[in-house]
Amino acid sequence: MAGRNISYKIETKAINNLVSYNDSKAPATEAYRSLRTNLNYYNIDKSIKSIVVTSPSSSDGKTTTVCNLSVSMAQTGKKVLIVDADLRRPRVHTHFDLSNDVGLTDILMNEKLIDKAIKQVEEINNLSVLTSGWKTQNPAEVLSSQNVKSVINMLKSIYDIVLIDTPPVAQLTDAAVIAAEVDGVILVLASGEDNYNSARYAKQALKKVEANVLGVVLTKIRHPVSRYY
Ligand SMILES: Nc1ncnc2c1ncn2[C@@H]1O[C@H](COP(=O)(O)OP(=O)(O)OP(=O)(O)O)[C@@H](O)[C@H]1O
Ligand SMILES: [Mg+2]
Repeated sequence: MAGRNISYKIETKAINNLVSYNDSKAPATEAYRSLRTNLNYYNIDKSIKSIVVTSPSSSDGKTTTVCNLSVSMAQTGKKVLIVDADLRRPRVHTHFDLSNDVGLTDILMNEKLIDKAIKQVEEINNLSVLTSGWKTQNPAEVLSSQNVKSVINMLKSIYDIVLIDTPPVAQLTDAAVIAAEVDGVILVLASGEDNYNSARYAKQALKKVEANVLGVVLTKIRHPVSRYY
C-alpha cells in the first residue's frame, strides 16, 4: 500500500458526503477501491482484522477515509465495523445519520451493552457502526483501560474487519494507545497541510508503541483537472 496515494476533489453530494456510497464511478470512489485492494494484497494471510486510521493533525481526512474505505470494503461482502474512537470530536455517526446515544465508551464500561451499541447502516449491507458513545471528560484514561484490548478482540471475533477512527496522533495520546492494540495502522497525511516534522512526530509516536504502520494515505492533493481521469 505504501506509495499509493488517494486524492480527490470534494464535491458536496447527497447522502452525508460519502462519495463511495453516492457515486460508484467517481475517481475518489475508485481511489478508495484501490486502497481496499492494496490492503487485501497486504493482508493475504488475513491476519490484519483491526485497523486504526490516524493522522498528525486535525482535519487531515481521517474520518472521511475510514467511512469511505469501510463502505468500499462492505461492498465486497465483508462484514465491516467502524468504531469511532475519536471521543473528543466524534463525527462518524453524522456521516451515517445515526444516534450516538450508546457506543464505545458505554461498552468499555459494560460489554453487555454491545447489542445496543452497534448499529447496522440501513443503506449498506454488511456495514455496522459503533459510535463513540457517552461523552467522557477523560478520553485518554478511558481508552487506556484494560478493557480496550478485550473489546477489540471481541469485535474482531464478530466482524471480518474493524476500522477505527481516532483523534490526531501528534497532539494526543488516544490514537497511539489504541494503535498499540490493533493489527495495523493507516497514517493519513494531508498534502500541503502536514509538514515533514508533524509527519515524523506522528510516525515516532506510533513507533514508540510498536504499532504496525501499514502505509500512508495522502489526502487533499491539488492537481490540474484531467479530461480523462
Ligand atoms: N482525500 C481528500 N481530499 C480532499 N479533501 C478531503 C479528503 N479527505 C477529507 N477531506 C476533507 O477534509 C476535511 C476534514 O475531513 P475529516 O473530517 O475526515 O478529517 P479528520 O482528520 O477526521 O478531522 P478531525 O481531526 O477533526 O477528526 C473535510 O472537509 C473533508 O471533506
Ligand atoms: Mg475525524
